[in-house]
Amino acid sequence: MTLMNRRVTLKERPTGLAGPEHFAMDEQPVRAPAEGEVLIETLLLSVDPAMRVWISENPGYVEPVLPGEVMRAGGIGRVLESRSPTVRPGDLVQARLGWQTHTTLPGSVLQRLDPALGSALDWIGPLGGTALTAYFGILDVGAAKAGETVLVSAASGGVGQMAGQIAKLAGCRVVGTAGGPEKCAFVTRELGFDEAIDYKAEPDIKAAIRRTCPDGIDVYFDNVGGPTLDAALGAIRLRGRIAVCGRISQTATAEVYGIRNMGVLIGKRARIEGFLVFDYADRYDEARRWLSGHLKAGRLKQRLHVLDGLERAPEGLTMLFRGGNTGKLVVRVAKED
Ligand SMILES: NC(=O)c1ccc[n+]([C@@H]2O[C@H](COP(=O)([O-])OP(=O)(O)OC[C@H]3O[C@@H](n4cnc5c(N)ncnc54)[C@H](OP(=O)(O)O)[C@@H]3O)[C@@H](O)[C@H]2O)c1
Repeated sequence: MTLMNRRVTLKERPTGLAGPEHFAMDEQPVRAPAEGEVLIETLLLSVDPAMRVWISENPGYVEPVLPGEVMRAGGIGRVLESRSPTVRPGDLVQARLGWQTHTTLPGSVLQRLDPALGSALDWIGPLGGTALTAYFGILDVGAAKAGETVLVSAASGGVGQMAGQIAKLAGCRVVGTAGGPEKCAFVTRELGFDEAIDYKAEPDIKAAIRRTCPDGIDVYFDNVGGPTLDAALGAIRLRGRIAVCGRISQTATAEVYGIRNMGVLIGKRARIEGFLVFDYADRYDEARRWLSGHLKAGRLKQRLHVLDGLERAPEGLTMLFRGGNTGKLVVRVAKED
Protein backbone atom coordinates (compact mmCIF):
# COMPACT_ATOMS: atom_id res chain seq x y z
CA MET A 1 0.00 0.00 0.00
CA THR A 2 1.31 3.49 -0.83
CA LEU A 3 2.22 5.49 2.26
CA MET A 4 0.46 8.86 2.11
CA ASN A 5 1.66 12.22 3.44
CA ARG A 6 -1.04 14.47 4.92
CA ARG A 7 -0.04 18.10 4.44
CA VAL A 8 -1.16 21.55 5.55
CA THR A 9 -0.40 24.06 2.79
CA LEU A 10 -0.79 27.83 2.65
CA LYS A 11 -4.00 28.62 0.75
CA GLU A 12 -3.80 32.40 0.78
CA ARG A 13 -1.93 35.12 2.62
CA PRO A 14 -3.83 36.63 5.55
CA THR A 15 -4.09 40.39 5.93
CA GLY A 16 -4.63 40.33 9.70
CA LEU A 17 -4.80 37.35 12.03
CA ALA A 18 -3.95 33.99 10.42
CA GLY A 19 -6.33 31.08 10.90
CA PRO A 20 -7.64 27.82 9.46
CA GLU A 21 -9.27 29.66 6.53
CA HIS A 22 -5.81 30.53 5.17
CA PHE A 23 -4.65 26.92 5.00
CA ALA A 24 -5.69 23.78 3.09
CA MET A 25 -5.15 20.08 3.76
CA ASP A 26 -4.33 17.45 1.16
CA GLU A 27 -2.64 14.06 0.79
CA GLN A 28 0.20 13.05 -1.49
CA PRO A 29 2.19 9.82 -1.83
CA VAL A 30 5.32 9.86 0.30
CA ARG A 31 8.55 10.29 -1.70
CA ALA A 32 11.01 7.43 -1.22
CA PRO A 33 14.46 8.62 -0.06
CA ALA A 34 17.24 8.94 -2.66
CA GLU A 35 20.89 8.28 -1.80
CA GLY A 36 21.80 10.40 1.28
CA GLU A 37 18.15 11.05 2.15
CA VAL A 38 15.91 9.98 4.99
CA LEU A 39 12.14 9.38 5.26
CA ILE A 40 10.76 10.80 8.50
CA GLU A 41 7.42 10.40 10.26
CA THR A 42 6.46 13.59 12.09
CA LEU A 43 5.76 13.26 15.82
CA LEU A 44 5.69 16.81 17.22
CA LEU A 45 5.52 20.20 15.52
CA SER A 46 6.21 23.62 16.91
CA VAL A 47 3.72 26.47 16.43
CA ASP A 48 5.46 29.84 16.56
CA PRO A 49 4.39 33.49 16.22
CA ALA A 50 7.10 33.89 13.56
CA MET A 51 4.97 31.74 11.25
CA ARG A 52 2.63 34.68 10.80
CA VAL A 53 5.64 36.64 9.51
CA TRP A 54 6.78 33.79 7.23
CA ILE A 55 3.42 33.73 5.42
CA SER A 56 3.49 37.48 4.77
CA GLU A 57 4.70 38.76 1.42
CA ASN A 58 8.00 40.06 2.73
CA PRO A 59 9.21 38.50 5.99
CA GLY A 60 12.50 40.36 5.68
CA TYR A 61 14.87 37.78 7.17
CA VAL A 62 13.72 34.49 5.57
CA GLU A 63 12.08 33.52 2.29
CA PRO A 64 8.27 33.78 2.43
CA VAL A 65 6.19 30.59 2.36
CA LEU A 66 4.39 30.66 -1.00
CA PRO A 67 0.71 29.82 -1.49
CA GLY A 68 0.45 26.10 -2.28
CA GLU A 69 3.59 25.24 -0.29
CA VAL A 70 3.63 23.13 2.87
CA MET A 71 3.68 25.42 5.92
CA ARG A 72 7.21 25.73 7.25
CA ALA A 73 7.65 24.44 10.81
CA GLY A 74 10.28 22.95 13.03
CA GLY A 75 9.52 19.61 14.59
CA ILE A 76 10.61 16.23 15.82
CA GLY A 77 10.18 13.01 13.92
CA ARG A 78 11.13 9.36 13.78
CA VAL A 79 13.30 7.96 10.98
CA LEU A 80 11.32 5.35 9.00
CA GLU A 81 13.86 4.69 6.26
CA SER A 82 17.43 5.91 5.88
CA ARG A 83 19.82 6.05 2.96
CA SER A 84 22.12 8.35 4.95
CA PRO A 85 25.07 7.07 7.00
CA THR A 86 24.29 9.55 9.81
CA VAL A 87 20.92 8.21 11.02
CA ARG A 88 19.18 4.86 11.34
CA PRO A 89 15.54 3.78 11.27
CA GLY A 90 13.99 4.43 14.69
CA ASP A 91 16.23 7.42 15.48
CA LEU A 92 14.48 10.57 16.70
CA VAL A 93 15.53 13.67 14.79
CA GLN A 94 14.84 17.38 14.79
CA ALA A 95 14.53 19.34 11.55
CA ARG A 96 12.41 21.76 9.58
CA LEU A 97 9.76 19.11 8.91
CA GLY A 98 6.85 21.38 7.92
CA TRP A 99 3.20 20.88 8.78
CA GLN A 100 2.94 17.37 7.32
CA THR A 101 2.90 13.80 8.54
CA HIS A 102 5.92 12.61 6.53
CA THR A 103 8.87 14.23 4.84
CA THR A 104 11.94 13.17 2.91
CA LEU A 105 15.05 15.20 3.70
CA PRO A 106 18.83 14.97 3.28
CA GLY A 107 20.43 13.31 6.32
CA SER A 108 22.80 16.30 6.53
CA VAL A 109 20.04 18.69 7.70
CA LEU A 110 18.89 16.50 10.60
CA GLN A 111 19.82 16.92 14.25
CA ARG A 112 19.74 13.57 16.08
CA LEU A 113 18.15 13.88 19.51
CA ASP A 114 20.41 12.92 22.37
CA PRO A 115 18.08 11.00 24.71
CA ALA A 116 20.54 11.60 27.56
CA LEU A 117 19.55 15.28 27.52
CA GLY A 118 15.79 14.75 27.51
CA SER A 119 12.70 13.22 25.92
CA ALA A 120 11.19 14.19 22.54
CA LEU A 121 8.81 16.54 24.39
CA ASP A 122 11.78 18.09 26.20
CA TRP A 123 13.55 18.59 22.88
CA ILE A 124 10.65 20.60 21.47
CA GLY A 125 9.98 22.34 24.78
CA PRO A 126 12.58 23.20 27.43
CA LEU A 127 15.50 22.19 25.17
CA GLY A 128 13.87 23.50 21.96
CA GLY A 129 14.03 26.70 19.97
CA THR A 130 12.02 28.81 22.40
CA ALA A 131 14.23 27.77 25.32
CA LEU A 132 17.39 28.49 23.30
CA THR A 133 15.95 31.91 22.44
CA ALA A 134 15.37 32.64 26.12
CA TYR A 135 18.86 31.43 27.08
CA PHE A 136 20.75 33.62 24.61
CA GLY A 137 18.35 36.54 25.02
CA ILE A 138 18.72 36.70 28.79
CA LEU A 139 22.35 35.70 29.26
CA ASP A 140 23.99 37.15 26.12
CA VAL A 141 21.88 39.96 24.67
CA GLY A 142 20.41 41.04 28.01
CA ALA A 143 23.57 40.07 29.92
CA ALA A 144 21.48 39.73 33.09
CA LYS A 145 23.52 39.71 36.30
CA ALA A 146 22.78 38.77 39.89
CA GLY A 147 20.91 41.45 41.80
CA GLU A 148 19.43 43.06 38.69
CA THR A 149 15.73 43.54 37.93
CA VAL A 150 14.46 41.80 34.79
CA LEU A 151 11.08 42.37 33.17
CA VAL A 152 9.80 39.66 30.78
CA SER A 153 6.69 40.13 28.62
CA ALA A 154 4.44 37.28 27.41
CA ALA A 155 5.85 35.63 30.53
CA SER A 156 3.63 32.54 30.52
CA GLY A 157 4.45 31.65 26.89
CA GLY A 158 7.11 29.36 25.48
CA VAL A 159 9.97 31.86 25.43
CA GLY A 160 8.77 33.97 28.37
CA GLN A 161 8.54 31.10 30.90
CA MET A 162 12.11 30.12 30.18
CA ALA A 163 13.45 33.70 30.05
CA GLY A 164 12.08 34.44 33.52
CA GLN A 165 13.36 31.22 35.06
CA ILE A 166 16.80 31.63 33.48
CA ALA A 167 16.97 35.17 34.88
CA LYS A 168 16.01 33.79 38.32
CA LEU A 169 18.80 31.22 38.03
CA ALA A 170 21.16 34.11 37.24
CA GLY A 171 20.16 35.67 40.58
CA CYS A 172 17.85 38.39 39.27
CA ARG A 173 14.57 39.75 40.58
CA VAL A 174 12.05 38.89 37.86
CA VAL A 175 8.72 40.47 36.98
CA GLY A 176 6.54 39.10 34.17
CA THR A 177 3.63 40.49 32.19
CA ALA A 178 0.85 38.12 31.12
CA GLY A 179 -2.78 38.30 30.07
CA GLY A 180 -5.13 37.23 32.85
CA PRO A 181 -4.99 36.18 36.52
CA GLU A 182 -4.41 32.46 35.81
CA LYS A 183 -1.35 33.15 33.71
CA CYS A 184 -0.03 35.57 36.34
CA ALA A 185 -0.57 33.01 39.11
CA PHE A 186 1.18 30.39 36.97
CA VAL A 187 4.35 32.44 36.54
CA THR A 188 4.61 33.50 40.17
CA ARG A 189 3.42 30.33 41.96
CA GLU A 190 4.70 27.65 39.62
CA LEU A 191 7.69 29.28 37.95
CA GLY A 192 8.95 31.42 40.82
CA PHE A 193 8.71 34.88 39.21
CA ASP A 194 8.77 37.53 41.95
CA GLU A 195 5.76 39.45 40.61
CA ALA A 196 3.44 39.47 37.65
CA ILE A 197 1.50 42.21 35.90
CA ASP A 198 -1.85 41.28 34.35
CA TYR A 199 -1.49 43.76 31.50
CA LYS A 200 -5.05 43.18 30.33
CA ALA A 201 -6.44 44.29 33.70
CA GLU A 202 -4.05 47.22 34.25
CA PRO A 203 -5.44 50.55 33.10
CA ASP A 204 -1.91 52.03 33.09
CA ILE A 205 0.98 49.72 32.19
CA LYS A 206 3.54 52.42 33.09
CA ALA A 207 2.15 52.67 36.63
CA ALA A 208 2.11 48.87 36.92
CA ILE A 209 5.79 48.70 35.96
CA ARG A 210 6.65 51.50 38.42
CA ARG A 211 4.80 49.61 41.17
CA THR A 212 6.43 46.23 40.52
CA CYS A 213 9.88 47.54 39.56
CA PRO A 214 10.22 50.54 41.93
CA ASP A 215 13.98 50.91 41.28
CA GLY A 216 13.56 50.54 37.52
CA ILE A 217 14.46 47.79 35.04
CA ASP A 218 17.99 46.60 34.28
CA VAL A 219 16.95 44.14 31.56
CA TYR A 220 13.74 44.09 29.58
CA PHE A 221 13.18 40.87 27.60
CA ASP A 222 10.67 42.04 25.01
CA ASN A 223 8.34 39.53 23.40
CA VAL A 224 5.50 41.91 22.56
CA GLY A 225 6.62 45.40 21.45
CA GLY A 226 4.05 48.22 21.41
CA PRO A 227 2.92 50.03 24.57
CA THR A 228 4.68 47.54 26.90
CA LEU A 229 8.03 48.23 25.22
CA ASP A 230 7.36 51.97 25.48
CA ALA A 231 6.55 51.70 29.18
CA ALA A 232 9.62 49.52 29.83
CA LEU A 233 11.83 52.07 28.04
CA GLY A 234 10.46 54.72 30.40
CA ALA A 235 11.57 52.64 33.41
CA ILE A 236 15.00 51.55 32.14
CA ARG A 237 17.90 52.08 34.52
CA LEU A 238 21.35 53.51 33.83
CA ARG A 239 23.14 51.14 31.39
CA GLY A 240 20.00 49.02 31.12
CA ARG A 241 19.55 46.54 28.26
CA ILE A 242 16.52 45.72 26.16
CA ALA A 243 16.66 42.40 24.32
CA VAL A 244 14.13 42.64 21.48
CA CYS A 245 13.03 39.06 20.95
CA GLY A 246 9.61 39.55 19.35
CA ARG A 247 6.74 41.99 18.83
CA ILE A 248 3.64 39.86 18.82
CA SER A 249 1.33 42.81 19.60
CA GLN A 250 2.44 44.43 16.32
CA THR A 251 2.72 41.40 14.03
CA ALA A 252 -0.82 40.95 12.75
CA THR A 253 -2.08 44.49 13.15
CA ALA A 254 -2.59 47.17 10.50
CA GLU A 255 -1.85 50.04 12.87
CA VAL A 256 1.65 49.87 14.27
CA TYR A 257 2.22 51.58 17.64
CA GLY A 258 4.77 54.42 17.50
CA ILE A 259 7.36 54.15 20.30
CA ARG A 260 7.76 57.51 22.10
CA ASN A 261 10.41 56.82 24.73
CA MET A 262 13.48 56.16 22.55
CA GLY A 263 15.13 59.33 23.88
CA VAL A 264 15.52 57.66 27.28
CA LEU A 265 18.30 55.51 25.80
CA ILE A 266 20.57 58.56 25.60
CA GLY A 267 20.39 59.81 29.16
CA LYS A 268 20.40 56.26 30.55
CA ARG A 269 23.22 55.11 28.21
CA ALA A 270 20.98 52.10 27.66
CA ARG A 271 21.14 49.56 24.83
CA ILE A 272 18.31 48.08 22.76
CA GLU A 273 19.22 45.11 20.58
CA GLY A 274 17.21 42.74 18.43
CA PHE A 275 18.41 39.18 17.99
CA LEU A 276 17.59 35.94 16.20
CA VAL A 277 18.23 32.64 17.91
CA PHE A 278 19.69 31.19 14.67
CA ASP A 279 22.70 33.48 15.09
CA TYR A 280 23.71 31.32 18.07
CA ALA A 281 23.48 27.96 16.25
CA ASP A 282 27.12 27.10 16.99
CA ARG A 283 26.36 27.38 20.73
CA TYR A 284 23.13 25.33 20.83
CA ASP A 285 24.93 22.33 22.36
CA GLU A 286 26.27 24.46 25.21
CA ALA A 287 22.80 25.89 25.87
CA ARG A 288 21.07 22.49 25.71
CA ARG A 289 23.55 20.98 28.19
CA TRP A 290 22.95 23.91 30.57
CA LEU A 291 19.16 23.70 30.19
CA SER A 292 19.13 19.91 30.54
CA GLY A 293 21.21 20.07 33.73
CA HIS A 294 18.80 22.51 35.38
CA LEU A 295 15.78 20.61 34.05
CA LYS A 296 16.96 17.33 35.56
CA ALA A 297 17.80 19.01 38.84
CA GLY A 298 14.24 20.40 39.00
CA ARG A 299 15.40 24.02 38.83
CA LEU A 300 13.72 24.64 35.46
CA LYS A 301 10.36 23.57 34.10
CA GLN A 302 8.29 24.31 31.06
CA ARG A 303 4.58 23.93 30.60
CA LEU A 304 3.66 22.72 27.14
CA HIS A 305 0.29 23.35 25.55
CA VAL A 306 -0.27 20.33 23.31
CA LEU A 307 -2.87 20.18 20.53
CA ASP A 308 -3.59 16.71 19.19
CA GLY A 309 -3.74 16.23 15.41
CA LEU A 310 -2.00 17.86 12.44
CA GLU A 311 -5.28 19.49 11.36
CA ARG A 312 -5.20 21.63 14.53
CA ALA A 313 -1.96 23.42 13.59
CA PRO A 314 -3.64 26.42 11.86
CA GLU A 315 -5.95 26.90 14.85
CA GLY A 316 -2.82 26.90 17.02
CA LEU A 317 -1.40 29.81 15.06
CA THR A 318 -4.53 31.87 15.83
CA MET A 319 -4.33 30.91 19.52
CA LEU A 320 -0.88 32.47 19.90
CA PHE A 321 -2.21 35.86 18.83
CA ARG A 322 -5.29 35.63 21.05
CA GLY A 323 -3.40 34.45 24.13
CA GLY A 324 -5.20 31.10 23.95
CA ASN A 325 -2.08 29.16 24.90
CA THR A 326 -0.45 28.82 28.29
CA GLY A 327 3.01 27.56 27.59
CA LYS A 328 4.91 26.42 24.56
CA LEU A 329 2.42 25.50 21.85
CA VAL A 330 3.04 22.12 20.23
CA VAL A 331 1.04 19.95 17.84
CA ARG A 332 1.25 16.21 18.41
CA VAL A 333 1.00 14.52 15.01
CA ALA A 334 1.80 10.97 16.14
CA LYS A 335 2.63 9.30 19.47
CA GLU A 336 6.27 9.59 20.53
CA ASP A 337 6.58 5.89 21.57
N1 LIG B 1 14.10 36.38 18.14
C1 LIG B 1 13.97 35.07 17.99
O1 LIG B 1 14.87 34.37 17.52
C2 LIG B 1 12.69 34.43 18.45
C3 LIG B 1 12.57 33.03 18.50
C4 LIG B 1 11.37 32.47 18.98
C5 LIG B 1 10.34 33.32 19.36
N2 LIG B 1 10.50 34.67 19.25
C6 LIG B 1 9.44 35.59 19.69
O2 LIG B 1 9.19 35.35 21.06
C7 LIG B 1 7.87 35.73 21.37
C8 LIG B 1 7.17 34.60 22.13
O3 LIG B 1 7.08 33.47 21.27
P1 LIG B 1 6.49 32.08 21.81
O4 LIG B 1 6.67 31.09 20.75
O5 LIG B 1 7.06 31.81 23.14
O6 LIG B 1 4.95 32.42 21.94
P2 LIG B 1 4.09 32.39 23.28
O7 LIG B 1 4.63 33.44 24.19
O8 LIG B 1 4.00 31.00 23.77
O9 LIG B 1 2.66 32.80 22.74
C9 LIG B 1 2.38 34.09 22.38
C10 LIG B 1 1.80 34.88 23.58
O10 LIG B 1 1.89 36.26 23.27
C11 LIG B 1 0.92 36.95 24.01
N3 LIG B 1 0.26 37.95 23.17
C12 LIG B 1 -0.48 37.72 22.05
N4 LIG B 1 -0.94 38.89 21.56
C13 LIG B 1 -0.49 39.87 22.40
C14 LIG B 1 -0.64 41.28 22.45
N5 LIG B 1 -1.35 41.94 21.52
N6 LIG B 1 -0.04 41.96 23.44
C15 LIG B 1 0.68 41.32 24.38
N7 LIG B 1 0.85 39.97 24.41
C16 LIG B 1 0.28 39.27 23.42
C17 LIG B 1 -0.11 35.91 24.49
O11 LIG B 1 0.02 35.77 25.90
P3 LIG B 1 -0.86 36.69 26.89
O12 LIG B 1 -2.11 35.90 27.17
O13 LIG B 1 0.02 36.87 28.06
O14 LIG B 1 -1.18 37.95 26.15
C18 LIG B 1 0.33 34.63 23.80
O15 LIG B 1 0.07 33.49 24.58
C19 LIG B 1 7.19 36.07 20.04
O16 LIG B 1 7.19 37.47 19.87
C20 LIG B 1 8.10 35.40 19.03
O17 LIG B 1 8.03 36.02 17.77
C21 LIG B 1 11.65 35.22 18.80
